Amino acid sequence: MSTEISQSKGVYISTYGCQMNVNDTERMYSLLEMINYAPVPSPDQADLIIINSCSVREKPVHKVHSEVGRYKGLKTQKPQLKIGVGGCVAQQEKKQLLTDVPLLDFVFGTDAIDSLPSLVQDLEQGEQKKVDAKFRHSEPYHVQTLVKNPGVSTFVNITKGCDNFCTFCVVPFTRGRERSRPLKHLIEDINSLTKRGVREVTLLGQNVNSYKSDCGANFGELMRAVAVDTDIERIRFTTSHPKDFNEELVGIMQDHRDKIMDYIHLPVQSGSSEVLERMNRGYTREEYIRKAKMILEIMPGAALSSDIIVGFPGESEKQFEETMSLLEEVPYESIFSFKYSPRPFTKAARWEDHVSEEEKSRRLTALQSRHKEIAFELSKRYRDSVVDVLVEVFDEESGRCSGRSTQNKLTHFNGRKEMIGGTYKVKVNEAFPQTLRGVLFEH
Ligand code: 5AD
Ligand code: SF4
Repeated sequence: MSTEISQSKGVYISTYGCQMNVNDTERMYSLLEMINYAPVPSPDQADLIIINSCSVREKPVHKVHSEVGRYKGLKTQKPQLKIGVGGCVAQQEKKQLLTDVPLLDFVFGTDAIDSLPSLVQDLEQGEQKKVDAKFRHSEPYHVQTLVKNPGVSTFVNITKGCDNFCTFCVVPFTRGRERSRPLKHLIEDINSLTKRGVREVTLLGQNVNSYKSDCGANFGELMRAVAVDTDIERIRFTTSHPKDFNEELVGIMQDHRDKIMDYIHLPVQSGSSEVLERMNRGYTREEYIRKAKMILEIMPGAALSSDIIVGFPGESEKQFEETMSLLEEVPYESIFSFKYSPRPFTKAARWEDHVSEEEKSRRLTALQSRHKEIAFELSKRYRDSVVDVLVEVFDEESGRCSGRSTQNKLTHFNGRKEMIGGTYKVKVNEAFPQTLRGVLFEH
């Protein structure tokens, strides 16, 4: 055993961005293990460093540049060290990244993850400056979940890519056309994860609602099948597109509420119909509000959250105020809010960016501070109630268990280590905007 460890090489992956990337990093570690690379906790112990990059936030190339720059000393000390970039910036920049960041040895795109072991082996055999940034659109999307040590909760990719082309978003260009995994494979995948102790899966996709299996099953049918044909205890999903969220799906969620979480992340992006049209979102403010109300009518008590962009090109003060007033109409327990910034290849990047940086900051602060008050109010509804918490972590020092309630609220209570992986009823006695604290209600 010890000789095996000393013979393996070390890989360090730094991960930016969304859950899709977190999941891809897990996959990279598992694939690299097959060619004898073991994860190491810091870059100075690594023979291979990978930056799993994100291009949704600002200055993405610059971020890759500065991180690679930090490894310059390591590369001098250890010339055999290989440094590569994967993820969305790699997909977007392709071989240009090798020119812009000369210390890099390789670049691999979002569809090239499964080729990573052979790419690394080519480098070990002396090849230099490798790039694989091809989309494999014509290949079926068959990716069994690879996680080395699955915890209580794990991600399962159900779709890849996006065909929506919202005018601000780079994802259709960095993740390619939308593809879905066959329903049968997903059920097998989830069954094998439950056998390894997984209690909760998050079904992942850029737009989960447009899932379409080769057998014709849609997202609702997939959720029903996961609820009925697997032993998984909890099902979550992200991200939903409001235009594709329909009554049939909410009905299925309500029917399987014992397993499917009472939580829907439904990114609105803006409260102004005019802005939504320029964003190419495919719904108006009124349609969105109707959908949110429909969800809460069919699933009373469910929690909603959203993504919001302020300062989209041409967003007037009045249009921003419509986003502010949307907060009063849709009870979001949490929001993720961003200042608009242009992304390569996108339509909006070619439009004049009318809103100044100062004004974007002002709007963002106004939005966030109003939402904080709202979140606090909404959180009070949990006081004195009993929530079901799936315990994910136990902290020895404080004796505290932590996990998520069915409405996705992070909840803490005093417990024991053996409780990890179990679902417990917790009586809430303190409610903060984003977290709850309580006591064990039932043993
Ligand atoms: N500018 C600001 N925010 C953006 N997002 C996506 N693209 C941009 C952009 N160009 C936000 C959206 C999306 C979330 C993941 O990131 O709100 O839902
Ligand atoms: Fe981007 Fe729109 Fe697709 Fe979401 S639905 S990934 S915002 S293009």
